[in-house]
Amino acid sequence: MEPHVDSNKLNELLGRAVTDVGAVSIAPLVLIGDRLGLYRALAAQGPAAPARLAALTGTHERYVREWLNAQAASGYVRYHADSGRYELTPEQALAFADEDSPAFIIGGFETALAAGRIVDKLAQAFQTGEGIGWHEHDHALFHGIERFFRPGYNGHLVQQWIPALDGVAARLAGGARVADIGCGHGASTLLMAQAFPESEFIGFDYHGESIAAARDRANEAGVGERCRFEVASAKDFPGSGYDLVTVFDALHDMGDPVGASHHVLQTLAADGTWMIVEPYAGDRVEENLNPVGRAYYAASTLICTPCSLAQEVGLALGAQAGEARMRKVVTDAGFTRFRRATHTPFNLVYEARP
Ligand SMILES: C[S@@+](CC[C@H](N)C(=O)[O-])C[C@H]1O[C@@H](n2cnc3c(N)ncnc32)[C@H](O)[C@@H]1O
Repeated sequence: MEPHVDSNKLNELLGRAVTDVGAVSIAPLVLIGDRLGLYRALAAQGPAAPARLAALTGTHERYVREWLNAQAASGYVRYHADSGRYELTPEQALAFADEDSPAFIIGGFETALAAGRIVDKLAQAFQTGEGIGWHEHDHALFHGIERFFRPGYNGHLVQQWIPALDGVAARLAGGARVADIGCGHGASTLLMAQAFPESEFIGFDYHGESIAAARDRANEAGVGERCRFEVASAKDFPGSGYDLVTVFDALHDMGDPVGASHHVLQTLAADGTWMIVEPYAGDRVEENLNPVGRAYYAASTLICTPCSLAQEVGLALGAQAGEARMRKVVTDAGFTRFRRATHTPFNLVYEARP
């Protein structure tokens, strides 16, 4: 017997899917707008006709007009039908034209597009069970992640997350030694170094290309010897007696997060603190079936789970591990105290103490 199909439910489903097809199709156009300065020029100029925006950016009017219509249909640009002009509202400008804004979202598009480039390798990995290392991704992913996460760090790290840790802000202000593990391009490390000029920071990541980029960023920021970057994995980074160890959105990517946690414990001062920043997640799958969880589960399938499976142990926590799972990892490694210090809609911030 044919299953009964509810046409309303089918239409609703297809409506969602068409929205998503539009989202996938607009993503490369978002990157083009960013690369060619279309958003920035429109934000600076105010309402403009396509020809004006084309002239401002050295591009061709016909392309720009089509691009603008795609943006307007996405709600990323406002269209004024009476004048035929387009503009970025203040909110749209924050999201698409202001790299320093906590709402800047272009890195998300960059990350999603770059991660999708491993589809052939990933389909194979599904069949073999093998992992795909962070370093095996398209280079654009490393840049995309930096731009995706930095706005959140800009908005929360110094203002909310560090003050939520017991005594850490005062210690950093007075002069502390900090290790940032799995630091990628060093966005978090550099922000902390700029906020706490009396303290010394060292960022570690197993990925040499990311460390080279982090060193370039440090040179540009002029933080000097106070903020260095070295290639090392979470289980063998050097040093001891750190006042603060941080891991931003990287613990769940590791093959052996318990082993890494154990090494962090060995390198911390007896009264030191470990700050662990993870993607926001509830403990149960059903708590994560929402737009944020959707983006994270997808990224986790494309990036985080294969990354962990490529390393020893291959625990593969995934990006939606949740607090209970993280507590177990950290306390299994020997930490005696673990608590959620604070959270945002996108991140959980934990504090672990020896
Ligand atoms: C999602 S990125 C986050 C990068 C950075 N912390 C940030 O917030 O922008 C995860 C990082 O973890 C690093 N990583 C993965 N496994 C690692 C390991 N076992 N030891 C050190 N770094 C690792 C990757 O190279 C990558 O840079």
